[in-house]
Amino acid sequence: MTQAIVYSEHGGPDVLRLIELDTPAPGPGQVAVRVEAAGVNPIDGKLRSGLRGPGPMTAPRRIGNDGAGVITAVGEGVDGFRPGDEVVLFGASGVYATDVVVTVSAVQPRPPQVSAAQGAALGIPVGTAYQSLRSLAVGPGDTVLVHAGSGAVGQAAIQLAALWGATVIATASPARFDRLRELGAVPVAYGDGLEERVRAAAPQGVTVALDAAGTDEAIQTSLAVVADPTRIATIVRGPDAAGFGIRAFSGGSPEPLTDQQQAWRAEAVPVVLALMAAGRFTVELGPEFALADAVEAHRVLASGANGKITLVP
Ligand SMILES: NC(=O)c1ccc[n+]([C@@H]2O[C@H](COP(=O)([O-])OP(=O)(O)OC[C@H]3O[C@@H](n4cnc5c(N)ncnc54)[C@H](OP(=O)(O)O)[C@@H]3O)[C@@H](O)[C@H]2O)c1
Repeated sequence: MTQAIVYSEHGGPDVLRLIELDTPAPGPGQVAVRVEAAGVNPIDGKLRSGLRGPGPMTAPRRIGNDGAGVITAVGEGVDGFRPGDEVVLFGASGVYATDVVVTVSAVQPRPPQVSAAQGAALGIPVGTAYQSLRSLAVGPGDTVLVHAGSGAVGQAAIQLAALWGATVIATASPARFDRLRELGAVPVAYGDGLEERVRAAAPQGVTVALDAAGTDEAIQTSLAVVADPTRIATIVRGPDAAGFGIRAFSGGSPEPLTDQQQAWRAEAVPVVLALMAAGRFTVELGPEFALADAVEAHRVLASGANGKITLVP
């Protein structure tokens, strides 16, 4: 039997519940994975609450896109994976579970240097950071302002932008400054006076801004310090981006991701796994909860936690 978290109505964390269901066999092109850790992302809370997502529910919905685990069975036509392989899951669905069956494109081999919890922390944050920076053509000579640099997307964006040769300024609360410095960013506190602090931290000027905070302050500061609005993007305020004259990558945007953007999101996890295996990229882990405690995990998600929240079946 599989245990899985579902919700049948939109609402607060309490709508999440644990159910049992038969574990299906993988079909052609699929693999079955015993989940060792599931990553908890802000989008999970937004889907659960009804803020984002496909609208009215006709049946209980599974939840969770990112995870890590061990392959238990492979379907017809699957090459390159066998039972016992340790993998990272990304772009999957229903990963808050003991077991999932997913298309083979949603798994990547997990190098021994990467723990299951670290693997579960990658998919959405790393895919989003990587695609956003690629779309903004970040490279040597750029100075990139990352809003919410201490979050999962922000930490990934800082590291990738720095690896790609950019100078990085990132916003966070002061208690998080040491972590940002470790990752290669110059930290600045968000809040009143942000524009002046950014200008002082980057006297050479800022060429690119990525908003993972979603505040007016983040967007207005970006518009004030970056000359070219096509090099400003939000991943949170999708519906408002056109009104601000900036770009949006998902985040409720009416514009779907392009094929190229989706390809970059898919490319990100294998690239980052290789960087992690080489000791060149890190993820910060946060509180860990049992699968049955998904309600509590979502309460902590809503109140804010340092590091990636994971569920461990
Ligand atoms: N469009 C997409 O495809 C996409 C993909 C992934 C995520 N997202 C969205 O991007 C956002 C960030 O995701 P995440 O996974 O990185 O979240 P996270 O790990 O929970 O981090 C949230 C961060 O927001 C920071 N923050 C809180 N208030 C702030 C403020 N007023 N100004 C600036 N920063 C502030 C916090 O910083 P401190 O702790 O330092 O205070 C925290 O580090 C979420 O809204 C998420 O839904 C969108």
